[in-house]
Amino acid sequence: MFTAITTAVENNICTITINRPDKLNALNKTVIEELSAAMDEVYSNAAIKTAIITGAGPKAFVAGADISEFLSLNPEQGTELARRGQEMVFNKIENCPKPVVAAVNGFALGGGCELAMACHFRLASDNAKFGQPEVNLGLIPGYGGTQRLTQLVGKGKAMELMMTANMIDASEAKAMGLVNHVTSPENLLEETKKILCTIMTKGPNAISKVISCVNVAVVSDSAYTNGKSGYEKEIEAFGECFGTSEMKEGVTAFLEKRKASFGN
Ligand code: COA
Repeated sequence: MFTAITTAVENNICTITINRPDKLNALNKTVIEELSAAMDEVYSNAAIKTAIITGAGPKAFVAGADISEFLSLNPEQGTELARRGQEMVFNKIENCPKPVVAAVNGFALGGGCELAMACHFRLASDNAKFGQPEVNLGLIPGYGGTQRLTQLVGKGKAMELMMTANMIDASEAKAMGLVNHVTSPENLLEETKKILCTIMTKGPNAISKVISCVNVAVVSDSAYTNGKSGYEKEIEAFGECFGTSEMKEGVTAFLEKRKASFGN
């Protein structure tokens, strides 16, 4: 019933695979809607006790939100894109009472890195690459990246990664605490399943309480945001980017396969 993702349930583990390998599994509207539906199934189906999110093909986990959908958006539509994605998918994953783990099998950039970070923890293959390259497009992360990257790697490293748009490899990501384990590409799913099998021997009620309590430990401080959560502030700032000439130049440059010129 899905066209842009696949799901398979085996031994109580639901493997959700984003399946647009020719576009490096970029998150378009259909992927977001289907991921949302797949997560609803993870929540409601008693035969599913844990889930894995991964990408199809040898090259990418997810290379970001689908940039080809950006150029026509105004600030209100940009805000809506971020809000819908966060509510329909990213928050749903983070707050899922059953463990959801990312198996990062290649590029995890922009929305891809954000998708991996919304999962409860991450394994990566040794060819994986992580980054938040939105500033190349005159944009910022909009699917929770400003918040979750800061939570996972600390403020200084998060600032540098988001300001430089540099990519890091799997071993650097592990050293920063962004991923827990690095494996060969062939062993990635098996290693992920092994950990999930261990978790499935524990009390499921206790596991869901671990998830909800750990999530409370990382809520953002509203003192800097006029009482708004960091996620809400990110949604608004992401939307505002769609009113800038910077974003038009950045996205057009990507689509025309040239380097963006921001006049600096
Ligand atoms: N959105 C839409 N399409 C994307 C995409 C994205 N985020 N990332 C890759 N693609 C598409 C490319 O346009 C290309 O499509 P085409 O074959 O129709 O031209 C295809 O996927 C393959 O990507 P390509 O760029 O040719 O592969 P590469 O190996 O040369 O480079 C990357 C790989 C990941 C470095 C490069 O694709 C990239 O920089 N992607 C964008 C990353 C990004 O900025 N993400 C954040 C978005 S907010």
